[in-house]
Amino acid sequence: MTFRIVLLAAIGAWMVAASYSASALHASPSALHAQQPPAPSQTPPPAAAPGSVLDGVYSEEQAKRGAALYTTECASCHGSTMEGLDMAPPLTGGAFIANWNGLTVGDLFERIRLSMPQDDPGRLSRQQDADVLAFLLSVNKYPAGKTELPRETETLKRIKFEATKSPGSELQ
Ligand code: HEC
Repeated sequence: MTFRIVLLAAIGAWMVAASYSASALHASPSALHAQQPPAPSQTPPPAAAPGSVLDGVYSEEQAKRGAALYTTECASCHGSTMEGLDMAPPLTGGAFIANWNGLTVGDLFERIRLSMPQDDPGRLSRQQDADVLAFLLSVNKYPAGKTELPRETETLKRIKFEATKSPGSELQ
């Protein structure tokens, strides 16, 4: 007898709980709906991809690695300060910058990757080419940034190479 009462009470409690949770479930979609934030009024801008050598597209650390490579791989022909020697043109200064102004860092990267060092093109890895290029940018007084210059040509082609000052003032 006592057992039956307990059982009935248990069933009763279960039914109350079940109907309570059913109504809670039922209520939840509209509750969720009410919590939804208002539709965003505008989409956020895409993650900032550097668009120009003026934006800080290499890191100091990378330029340091590039400096060591430049000394062993490039300086014998282009000079210890990139001033140019004999047949090899300078890699800094007005004439050099005017040469590349309006092209992209990717173009310069490919030029180095495919033809330098002139006595053994292709000896350097993409990473080494990117590091040397970072050093070249630092010697040309382009600002360093937080991220390293990437080694993928497509990405590098989105970075414009441009003169620091107006091309006219660089040309003498
Ligand atoms: C054996 C000599 C030699 C070595 C080593 C050498 N270069 Fe050159 N480089 C040249 C010569 C000569 C030219 C011009 C003729 C040509 O393009 O082949 C040149 C041209 C260039 C140009 C094109 C410059 C312009 O304004 O058009 C770049 C950039 C360059 N070199 C970068 C490098 C880098 C970076 C290295 C080291 C990884 C390097 N070079 C190693 C001889 C050399």
